[in-house]
Amino acid sequence: MQVSVRKAVIPAAGLGTRFLPATKSIPKEMLPLVDKPIIQYGVEEIVDSGIPEVVIITGRGKSPLEDHFDRSFELEHVLRTRQKHELLAIAQRPSQLAQVSYTRQQEARGLGHAVLCAKPLVGDEPFAVLLPDDVIQAAIPCIRQLLDIHDQYQASVIALMEVPKDRISAYGVVAAEDLGNGLYRITDLVEKPKMEDAPSNLAIIGRYVFTPGIFSSLEQTGPGAIGEIQLTDGIRHLLRTQPVYGLKFAGTRYDAGDKLGFLQANVAFALQRPEFAEPLKEFLRTQDWGA
Ligand code: UTP
Repeated sequence: MQVSVRKAVIPAAGLGTRFLPATKSIPKEMLPLVDKPIIQYGVEEIVDSGIPEVVIITGRGKSPLEDHFDRSFELEHVLRTRQKHELLAIAQRPSQLAQVSYTRQQEARGLGHAVLCAKPLVGDEPFAVLLPDDVIQAAIPCIRQLLDIHDQYQASVIALMEVPKDRISAYGVVAAEDLGNGLYRITDLVEKPKMEDAPSNLAIIGRYVFTPGIFSSLEQTGPGAIGEIQLTDGIRHLLRTQPVYGLKFAGTRYDAGDKLGFLQANVAFALQRPEFAEPLKEFLRTQDWGA
């Protein structure tokens, strides 16, 4: 029987230390790419992929996320009174996108632990996971690309990206059998390997579709060296009992949780906006970049 995916989980309880000092009092998920918070791009990708329900894993200091996806009656009233209809639609959109619920991860005990926190809200069904820092521009939403594989194989699927050898040690990396057309059957995963130990140049990106079996795998995965439950360890456990596929997705990914990646994403997204593309290109063209 084919089971369709109705829920997506967004872990957003991390401390965002790479983005200090901005993230001391602002969740990094609320930093804007042009004019839209990073997390809204994630929710839009989920909705555009055909998934109607979103579970956001939050923590202390993350209440702006809940406000963003809620209605703001005062703001709406002011915009309506001033007949600012376009701005009103922009302000209302986040609250109309999806059915969003929240649960708290009380301590930042790792990405695997954050995903496990969603178990009571997801239940015994397949679900997607989207890491909001990874912002992806793609003709077909990345989660949709994974869902198409899930629908075909009824198995877990993770998004993969080729990474140059000298940068591979920053990523989780897979060992995998090439099935053709960008599809792989995963045989092992390693978190941040040394360049010479990396089993491939295929890095794990923050998009996944899981069977509910990942929950019991995570429950059986102990905390690693730094006391965190790693998602990659949970997937390695899942591999013992179920096939897990990898898909080299079509699209461009930006690491917006990193300062340089965030700047690059801002430029890339601004260049897609008709009102900014030409003036921004002109600005970049006319800068004196020095020697
Ligand atoms: P990161 O590895 O980017 O960690 O987490 P972080 O804490 O957010 O940021 P840095 O590295 O300190 O700058 C990847 C994703 O997993 C979530 C984060 O919110 C982010 O979306 N996460 C991580 C949790 O929800 N809980 C955790 O315990 C760890």
